[in-house]
Amino acid sequence: MMLAAERRADREIMKILVTGSGGQVGQDLIRGLLERGHEVHGSDVASRPSALGLGDRELPWHLLDVTDLAALRRLIARERPDIIYHLAAILSARGEENPGLTYRVNQGGVYNVLEASREHRVSQVLFASTIAVFGPGLPDPVPDDVHLQPTTMYGVTKVGGELLGEYYNKRYGLDFRAVRFPGLISATLPGGGTSDYAPLMYVESMRTGAYEAFCRADTRIPMMYMPDGIRALIELSEAPRDRLQRTTYNIAAFSPTAEEIADSVARAVPGARITFKSDPTRQAILDSWPNALDDAHARVDWGWAPEFDLERMTEDLVPKLRALLRVNAS
Ligand code: SER
Repeated sequence: MMLAAERRADREIMKILVTGSGGQVGQDLIRGLLERGHEVHGSDVASRPSALGLGDRELPWHLLDVTDLAALRRLIARERPDIIYHLAAILSARGEENPGLTYRVNQGGVYNVLEASREHRVSQVLFASTIAVFGPGLPDPVPDDVHLQPTTMYGVTKVGGELLGEYYNKRYGLDFRAVRFPGLISATLPGGGTSDYAPLMYVESMRTGAYEAFCRADTRIPMMYMPDGIRALIELSEAPRDRLQRTTYNIAAFSPTAEEIADSVARAVPGARITFKSDPTRQAILDSWPNALDDAHARVDWGWAPEFDLERMTEDLVPKLRALLRVNAS
C-alpha cells in the first residue's frame, strides 16, 4: 500500500483542461482542482453553469464539441494543457434513446481527445470509465480483468475508451489513466444516468418531500459519494507512473440496496416518502451491472481507499443540500 507521502511530492501547478465540465463530475472536479492550486480550463458543449460556486476564482470556459477533432486540436494547440480530464459523455439511460449520437460523442470523443493529446504531447489523459462496462453473470465482487460484455451503448463506448487509451499508452507512450466509477451521489444532479435514482432520492425528498424511484427496492449496485470520486481521479493523476501496473482501475466504496439508501435518507430527512416503481428499461440496465466491485489493484498500486460509507455520506450531504436549496429558493 502506498503512503500519501509517496505520492508525487512536488505537487506542481498544472494547466488542466476538463471536457464535459458542466456535468455532474465536472463541476465538483473543477472545484477540487482549483483548491489544489491548478490552472483549470473548463469546456463543454453548453455554456458555463451559473451555479459553479467558485467565488472569485477564475475559470476560463471554452465551448467545445468533442466530436469536432479540428476544434479540439485548435484548443489544445492554443492552450497547451499539461493534463486533460476527459469526462464528456452521454450517460447510459439517455444513451439508449439515441445510440448513434452516443457512439459519436462517447467513442468519437475519446478517440479525438487521445489523438489530439498525442499530437500536441499532452502529458497525461484521465478518463472517467464506469461500472457500465460490465455485463451480467460476473463474479461478485467483480475484479478488474473479466470478460466485458456491456448491454448499453454507453457501456460499449466506455470499454472502447479504456481499450483505446491502453493502445495509445502502449503504442505512443501516452500517459492514459482511468477509473471505473460506481454510481456517483452528489449535490450536483446527473443527467440521463441509470444510477440517478440515488442522488434523486436525496434531492427530491428534500425539495418536495417525496420521490418515486424508477427501480425495485432490492436493486443493489456499487455507489460512491462524489468527494471520494473526485479524490480518486486526482490521486490517480498524482500517482507515480512506475507504481501503476495498469491503465484502468475499479474503485469501490459501498453497495447499498435502493431501499437502504431510502432508509438512510428518511432518517436524515424527517417525513420523506420514497416509493418504488420499477421502469423495465432502466431496471434491465441496473440488473446487468455488478452488485459490487473489487478494487484491490487500485488500493495496492496507488493507495486508493474510500472515506465515505452510506451513513457518513448522508450526514455530509443532507446539510449541504439544505443550504443549496435555501440559496436557490431565495
Ligand atoms: N452513472 C452512470 C449511469 O447511470 C453509470 O456510470 O449511466
